[in-house]
Amino acid sequence: MTFDFDTILDRRRTGSYKWDFCERAFGEKDVIPMWVADMDFAAPPAVVAALKARAAHGAYGYPMIPKSFWTALSAWLKRRQGWEAGRNEMTLIPGVVPAINLCINAFTRPGDKIVIQTPVYHPFYAAVENNGRRLVRNPLSFDGGRFTMDFDHLKSLDDSRTRMIILCSPHNPVGRVWTREELGRLAEIAAAGDWVVVADEIHGDLILPGHRFTPFAAISNDAAARTVTLTAPSKTFNVAGLSTAVGIIGNPRLKALFDSQLQSAGLTMGNVFGLAAFEAAYREGEAWLDALLVYLAGNSEFAGRFLTENVPKIKLIAPEGTYLGLLDCRGLSLEQAELDRFLLREAKVYFDPGPRFGEELRGFQRINLGCPRPLLREALERVERAVRAREARTGS
Ligand SMILES: Cc1ncc(COP(=O)(O)O)c(C=O)c1O
Repeated sequence: MTFDFDTILDRRRTGSYKWDFCERAFGEKDVIPMWVADMDFAAPPAVVAALKARAAHGAYGYPMIPKSFWTALSAWLKRRQGWEAGRNEMTLIPGVVPAINLCINAFTRPGDKIVIQTPVYHPFYAAVENNGRRLVRNPLSFDGGRFTMDFDHLKSLDDSRTRMIILCSPHNPVGRVWTREELGRLAEIAAAGDWVVVADEIHGDLILPGHRFTPFAAISNDAAARTVTLTAPSKTFNVAGLSTAVGIIGNPRLKALFDSQLQSAGLTMGNVFGLAAFEAAYREGEAWLDALLVYLAGNSEFAGRFLTENVPKIKLIAPEGTYLGLLDCRGLSLEQAELDRFLLREAKVYFDPGPRFGEELRGFQRINLGCPRPLLREALERVERAVRAREARTGS
């Protein structure tokens, strides 16, 4: 079966955060949005069909989660990730970000220290700070082309108040698919400090050809016993607006603590559409995903080549997983605010400014490559034209 990823889907004025934000926030009408981790493709045909069938029924009362929902997930994890997770380890959650907040409350106390590996998905900072915990940064190392973990620094962060690490795997925004060896070293440090590991694996099925994903909980028995894995079809199948995700917790003591947080917050009911899409995606979305991954790798290659040939002052740090790349714009020699303004107002493309994920990304932008290639080309051509016009104007 072939899938069409090339046709541009008009998402303007559909209540899309990604597409309608720039006009509302900046008064800019004709901007191409290349920010927010949501793709400009329709979900797989099987998911759209399942949602239409559910909508056609007409009654949308409280759902009961069918057994088939859980078996679809276990079969998927086993097939795609080589990971056998049992039904009794799984809990429905309304989203990964809410679950990170619940984990912080379940497993740490106010004033405890929580480690994050920066630059990183910005809600990690907010979750730690909004819950009155102390944020501890373990900055990633960068050699100009690739980011890696700094294990010596990570080890040095252990003290009696360090209780948790929030792992982003694969990593947003640096695009790394951590190797088994890297995760093994992290697991040893977490074991030595007796830290809980919250493994945000929402991008775990978006692994580009040539890379291999290892679920953190599958590293060792010790890792399984200290990990809360958070995953979802949201990013993989472009159904993030349906608010349906899962927590997988192998340690019954941690699971009971987490579930009691869900109970206290009253978050025990699923969403009829989210449940239907979730099951259809994991049961019937595989061929679509395989085709998508090839297309995303093609987009990344296209963007890298386009910039090298036409805008060599901007360099793409291509992702190994996720559909998010980083643009190293330091060659333009613009201060961050000026760079952001230039891209939005002159190029009319909106990326996520790098410092949104951490000070380490000053001079960078995050680009969302999850869109039809003609749209990606148009966005990059806009950047090229703006850079050339600026060079002609300033003589540099
Ligand atoms: C690493 C990561 N975690 C979580 C989320 C959002 O998860 P949810 O919508 O389930 O809260 C995103 C979305 O971009 C993400 O990139």
